[in-house]
Amino acid sequence: MANVCLCKGISEETIVEAIKNGAVTFEEVSEKTGAGTGFCHGGRCKATIEKLIEEHKAQ
Ligand code: FES
Repeated sequence: MANVCLCKGISEETIVEAIKNGAVTFEEVSEKTGAGTGFCHGGRCKATIEKLIEEHKAQ
């Protein structure tokens, strides 16, 4: 699967798993996975992570 966070090499699968485990904000996903903590500080991955949260969070 393609990496969502390019800086840290974090896959979509890892991010979706964090969301299924209860992360509902970019900050929470970042804390659990390390995504968004690279040199661009989420500049390239934040929007995708927020989209994945909308798609996968528990309703
Ligand atoms: S791509 Fe995620 S922090 Fe840079």
